[in-house]
Amino acid sequence: MRRLVAQWRSEGLTVGLVPTMGGLHLGHKSLVKFASNKCDRVIVSIFINPTQFTEEEDFEIYPQTQDADCVLIKEAGGNAVFIPDISEMYPKGFSTKVSVSGLTNIMCGASRPGHFDGVTQVVTKLLNQASANNVYFGEKDWQQLAIIKRLVSDLDIPTNIVSVPTVRDEFGLALSSRNSYLNSSQLQTAQNLSSVLQKAAYNIAAGGCSSVECDLASKILLNSGIDKIDYIECRNSHSLKLIERTNEDECRIFAAVYIDNVRLIDNHIVV
Ligand code: PAJ
Repeated sequence: MRRLVAQWRSEGLTVGLVPTMGGLHLGHKSLVKFASNKCDRVIVSIFINPTQFTEEEDFEIYPQTQDADCVLIKEAGGNAVFIPDISEMYPKGFSTKVSVSGLTNIMCGASRPGHFDGVTQVVTKLLNQASANNVYFGEKDWQQLAIIKRLVSDLDIPTNIVSVPTVRDEFGLALSSRNSYLNSSQLQTAQNLSSVLQKAAYNIAAGGCSSVECDLASKILLNSGIDKIDYIECRNSHSLKLIERTNEDECRIFAAVYIDNVRLIDNHIVV
């Protein structure tokens, strides 16, 4: 990949990287399309990174659809795929950790200890391996995006981080590889999540107290068949600090919920 990127860059071409774990869907496709509209060449990495899964999570059964992934990447304008194996990414003796403090111990970081350390570890490697001009991440994983922006700024990594809006189904459900674990009635339940969050965001923007609106949204979701709420919180979009009432800073409502043992996340801007 280094040789290929060096060749492209020596020809004056701009290079974009889209890091993924495979199981690609239209959300990923929009990232690749976005990248190929802005960059002359686009690489998509597919690596199911073991260090970002906690013990009880779905690493062993994470969807693997490489052939279909490559078709989707080509259709979206991708030029190359990078599919390293685990021993290439973490050879014997590997012992370096990369950790961003503060932003990582709240929301998903609180319920998935070590998850974001795994993300920052593998993303640092991918950014160094690719030396791309731009690297593309989805807004669905807003906390991940905020942490990676911090990482790249703190470590002076010479790459632009570009965010891409969330792609949703017709009911507003954010597309996710994990949606494939849901049966049809669970899918219907999941499809309430986005509209309930949007309504709460609207009420907060209209002057409502965010903790009251978040509690109300939790109750509505639990009544609609969601099994468990991990968190629903209103936070500053950049610092991720909790917000009680809106002020001029941009804020978002963030949620993680469970249907059975499938964990779904989403976020909406409060405007
Ligand atoms: P993965 O879950 O495969 O997601 C890859 C990228 O696709 C992420 O930037 C994610 O935010 C984006 N994405 C997923 N669903 C989306 C949707 N519905 N709309 C827009 N973008 C969407 O996120 C990871 O992989 C990993 O943590 C990774 C960054 C690759 C590190 O291992």
